[in-house]
Amino acid sequence: MKTYDAIILGAGAAGMMAAIEAGRRGRRVLVIDHAKSAGEKIRISGGGRCNFTNMTVSAERFLGQNPRFALSALKRFGPWDFISRVDAAGITWHEKALGQLFCDGKATQIVELLLRDMAEARVELWLDCAIGEVREGFTLATARGDVTAPRLVVATGGKSIPKMGATSFGYKLAEAFGLPVTETRPALVPLTFATQELEWMAPLSGVSLPVVARAEGGPAFPEALLFTHRGLSGPAVLQVSSYWREGQGVKVDLLPGVDVAAVLRAARGANGRQGLGAALAGVMPERLARHLGGGLAPEAAISTLSNAAVERISAALHGWQMTPVGSEGYRTAEVTLGGVDTAALDARTMEAKGVPGLYFVGEVVDVTGWLGGYNFQWAWSSGWAAGQAL
Ligand code: FDA
Repeated sequence: MKTYDAIILGAGAAGMMAAIEAGRRGRRVLVIDHAKSAGEKIRISGGGRCNFTNMTVSAERFLGQNPRFALSALKRFGPWDFISRVDAAGITWHEKALGQLFCDGKATQIVELLLRDMAEARVELWLDCAIGEVREGFTLATARGDVTAPRLVVATGGKSIPKMGATSFGYKLAEAFGLPVTETRPALVPLTFATQELEWMAPLSGVSLPVVARAEGGPAFPEALLFTHRGLSGPAVLQVSSYWREGQGVKVDLLPGVDVAAVLRAARGANGRQGLGAALAGVMPERLARHLGGGLAPEAAISTLSNAAVERISAALHGWQMTPVGSEGYRTAEVTLGGVDTAALDARTMEAKGVPGLYFVGEVVDVTGWLGGYNFQWAWSSGWAAGQAL
């Protein structure tokens, strides 16, 4: 049986980072993944350009039972630590918005960086290799035979995009070793609607605009909303989905910062015979303006709108209320909310408190970031932290 100092399950962002760090410290490390290639989610991330970190990392940007759990690792290996590795590899990048850093070129550059660092640290990588039973101690049955190591890192990610090889393996393994797992659900995911609301939205498919969206009790997200033929998507809606729960409403300001009454008064002065849709077309996408105009003031010339009607229209546009019925689920979710309970892990090393030698890093842990590079930063930071302890 082959023996290592540490075996890492999952060659994603967190697993590769943990492997690099442990390998650099002279540990004999084996990484096993059932996928044919490493870092598949990195490859498809950020529209193919990988939003690899965010410069504004703080506890409020993370969800979980204890959002502060992530801070120790995030402080010890923060955004600038990863950026300096990206710079050293000659990968150029840019800030898109809100502190979000993307590669100028392809996301595969980040995968290549990690693979190169792993090879330099003499990490062994077994791809396309199924993992079977895991016994205490730790001994693993794999498609390439049994392997053993005193330290085992679970970096098998969340349940999102099962088509790409996502499994519940990490959660099940945690439970098998007696660790609590908090409720998991799809997050950063488009929201879906009942027939009536969907029929109203359907003609708007493809329309996108800047909004401020908020789920009940959640923070406000000033980002873009996108109408799709299945419901609502776009960064603002993906962010809100992490806070939304079944039965709750979502509130959207369709014209943040716009004085709607002033816009309508000006339009009334310029051409009182125009309809509400035409008047709104100056401040929002025309298709949406006409659709909303037809619903809020059908047939009416804006010169006929009373001040009370203008106020009502303004309130409706600044506080559009809707009630999603669900989400598109793990099929399209970017991440999984919930996971291995952080109360059972050491925040400095990611080691399970009750199971010496067993570590959990990355998305499998109950730490979920906002959209915008926070999830990769958590993967880098938690992988790095475990790598120092292996
Ligand atoms: P990750 O999922 O990356 O890796 C887990 C690995 O374990 C995989 O290689 C998988 O094959 C393997 N595995 C799973 N089960 C196994 C089993 N039973 N046996 C063997 N191997 C197994 N985040 C961000 O910060 N910026 C961004 O731009 C994006 N963009 C983005 C786009 C899309 C479409 C998605 C789906 C997700 C993102 N994300 C993101 C989220 C980000 O991809 C995610 O948070 C990290 O990849 C998590 O890293 P991990 O290493 O924890 O898991």
